Amino acid sequence: MPYDFDKIARTYDRLNRMMTLGLDRRWRKRAVSAVKSEKLKVKSVLDVACGTGDMVRELQKHGCHVTGVDLSEEMLIIAKSKAPTVTYMIADAEHLPFENDCFDAVTCAFGVRNFVHLEQGLSEMLRVLKPGGRMVILELSTPDSPLIRPFYNLYAKHIIPWLGSRIAGNREAYTYLPESIERFPKGEAFLGLLGDPVAEHTKYCFGVCRMYVINKEAAR
Ligand SMILES: C[S@@+](CC[C@H](N)C(=O)[O-])C[C@H]1O[C@@H](n2cnc3c(N)ncnc32)[C@H](O)[C@@H]1O
Repeated sequence: MPYDFDKIARTYDRLNRMMTLGLDRRWRKRAVSAVKSEKLKVKSVLDVACGTGDMVRELQKHGCHVTGVDLSEEMLIIAKSKAPTVTYMIADAEHLPFENDCFDAVTCAFGVRNFVHLEQGLSEMLRVLKPGGRMVILELSTPDSPLIRPFYNLYAKHIIPWLGSRIAGNREAYTYLPESIERFPKGEAFLGLLGDPVAEHTKYCFGVCRMYVINKEAAR
């Protein structure tokens, strides 16, 4: 069963800002810069697991025609209030309701970690991407450095659940967060799941966030 984000939708943005000290916004901006690289002509973008619409809004600012999909109705209600002109759909990333090869770019910020069948979700995202198009994924991960790890563990295992219970009234959701980060493949292990495409990744903040850029091979 996917985690039910309806329960934390109302406080999601506030907690994001607090937990990342505002860095989440900067990471999304970096992802949009990767989507809008000068070599690519990007108009239509699918934002998968769009949540409360922060990525959608950033893409719109850069002139993209965006479609946002998510499983959580409550998250989408907030997204609509922030970026009302975007097309939103309640849809499962693992069964996207789109034809093959129909978006210039596909993005997903902090969403793939929540897929029940990760490889199925990734393969769907690649399926709807046009040949020659780009998929950009942001995801949280554990830092590699053994020097940083104790500080990260203290923050992730104690401070984040405490913030979750104080702000969202939901300690359980914010205990799930660091646990799901710990379990999730990162770096080359994650890219390995994508198989063939030419992919690269960049670490931010000692690897606490990673951006994966995957280019779908152009049709020959
Ligand atoms: C951590 S939030 C990220 C939201 C947003 N992308 C952001 O940048 O803040 C994860 C989102 O993924 C959605 N989600 C989880 N599994 C999904 C799936 N299989 N298909 C579509 N959305 C999914 C959740 O409902 C939630 O809104």
